[in-house]
Amino acid sequence: MALHRNNRISSRCMESLKNGVSAGGPDIKEDKVHVREFKSDIYKTNGGHFEESFEEAALVTAFLAYLSYLVLSLVGYIQDALRDIGLGKSLAAQESPKLKSFVPLYQDFDSFFTRHVYRKIRDNWNVPIASAPTARFDLMGRSSEDHYWTFKATGETHSAINIGSYNYLGFAEQGGPGMESIENSTLSYGSGVCSTRQELGNLDIHRELETRIAEFCGQEDAMMYGMGFATNALNIPTLMGKGCLVVSDRLNHASLVLGIRLSGASVKVFEHNNMESLEKLLKKAIIEGQPRTQRPWKKILIVVEGIYSMEGSIVRLPELMALKKKYKCYLYLDEAHSIGAIGPTGRGVVEYFGLDPRDVDVMMGTFTKSFGASGGYIAGSKNLIDHLRIHSHSSAYSSSTSAPVVEQILRTVKIIMGEDGSTEGQKRIRALKRNTQYFRRRLRDLGFLTYGNVDSPVVPLLLYYPSKLAAFARECRSRGLAVVIVGFPATPIIEARARICLSASHTIEMLDEALSIIDEVGDLLDVKYSRRSLMKRELNGNCQT
Ligand SMILES: Cc1ncc(COP(=O)(O)O)c(C=O)c1O
Repeated sequence: MALHRNNRISSRCMESLKNGVSAGGPDIKEDKVHVREFKSDIYKTNGGHFEESFEEAALVTAFLAYLSYLVLSLVGYIQDALRDIGLGKSLAAQESPKLKSFVPLYQDFDSFFTRHVYRKIRDNWNVPIASAPTARFDLMGRSSEDHYWTFKATGETHSAINIGSYNYLGFAEQGGPGMESIENSTLSYGSGVCSTRQELGNLDIHRELETRIAEFCGQEDAMMYGMGFATNALNIPTLMGKGCLVVSDRLNHASLVLGIRLSGASVKVFEHNNMESLEKLLKKAIIEGQPRTQRPWKKILIVVEGIYSMEGSIVRLPELMALKKKYKCYLYLDEAHSIGAIGPTGRGVVEYFGLDPRDVDVMMGTFTKSFGASGGYIAGSKNLIDHLRIHSHSSAYSSSTSAPVVEQILRTVKIIMGEDGSTEGQKRIRALKRNTQYFRRRLRDLGFLTYGNVDSPVVPLLLYYPSKLAAFARECRSRGLAVVIVGFPATPIIEARARICLSASHTIEMLDEALSIIDEVGDLLDVKYSRRSLMKRELNGNCQT
């Protein structure tokens, strides 16, 4: 299994490791290790530190990972065939015998995959927790007597370090500065609003929050919504429609994809964070115009995210802005994972790159991550927000956010902006950055293959095989470390991974404990896949001798 680790280091490779990988090109190929890496001078505004890499799996790893899915599928087909002839009992959802003449609703590949791959390692997902999602939390014990079809709570709880929650600034906490304002606001406004913003559900604190969010984002106005997912899914259709074109990153979140589909606009998809692919697509779309009529598009909207939560990549915004201006398109930026989490004062990717927020036409974000609450917002020009206030389905037909939630967001925004008179917000932003860079560097030095940007608090750690995916989560959990794992269909089939989320509330001691568990489990399961780190370590070893 460790075949790929024994590759000799070619002289070209050694040269490139000494020099650092060359600037500018996204596809840098070495003799033995293929790395898509990006660094560029255009990012001088951020101190020139824009550094992102995606090391490709060794061929043998990729082949064996495919093979393991093939074996699992074959076993599944044999089990299904045996059950069909009455050998063995199936617990899978069945069509009612009364619907025999109907086309089956469930029996497609998704159902097969769920039964034969996901179900067998299901103990690693949806583990209930019995406390707030803080840096250390309590997991509830579960047992299953039917091979993970169903689970029973054992009544025990186990303390674990949490590296799975999107609690970037640690504000999803029990207690914390100014928490009493939430209690006070519940006592004065009540616990629920029970109406929409346009009818009887408009509180002064809704408006106060919108004003602060607009100011925080550097925009004229903002509107808040009860759910982040719905903010995307139900607002894109108010902006786009037939005759319009949406140009969407291949890895955009499901809420964006749903919103784009609901809008009825035409869609073209460009390669993830690849500005060459985007430009090619824009040029072609503008030259060709609408299908059949060849009329010009009514408008073109580029839809991207700030930080991609499965890849840990940061949008190449300076180049994207240049393209948007060159081709006169609008830009929709989803900052769910970047607002609060990056930028010197937590204002997201625009601040991270030192750009002008007014150049982003639609600035979307959620309150579920850095703000430790729930809901979403859109910030932009007054005209845009006025339009959304009237037309958005997610405010016109949905009750507004309750006072305790609004107060939690207000509390955290004030802390982040330093309006509470303390430096707590700045401390948390700095702690997250320190934790992110420290954890990423240590993982790389230990030999793990991680994806993404050096500044992204989301850290995908590649595991490839479904068996190793499950074993990694189980072994970490049994040592007191809770980690989220992600596989197909959320990732390409052979790119199963652990998705680590860092938080300002992690102490360095906690991170060291987590790293020592990951190191031990990594050796046990032989999942230290980075050949670049291995070469670097060998190189350092050679230099020292
Ligand atoms: C990029 C992105 N946009 C939108 C959402 C939806 O946000 P929420 O979970 O607040 O509904 C998510 C959820 O994680 C996300 O990752």
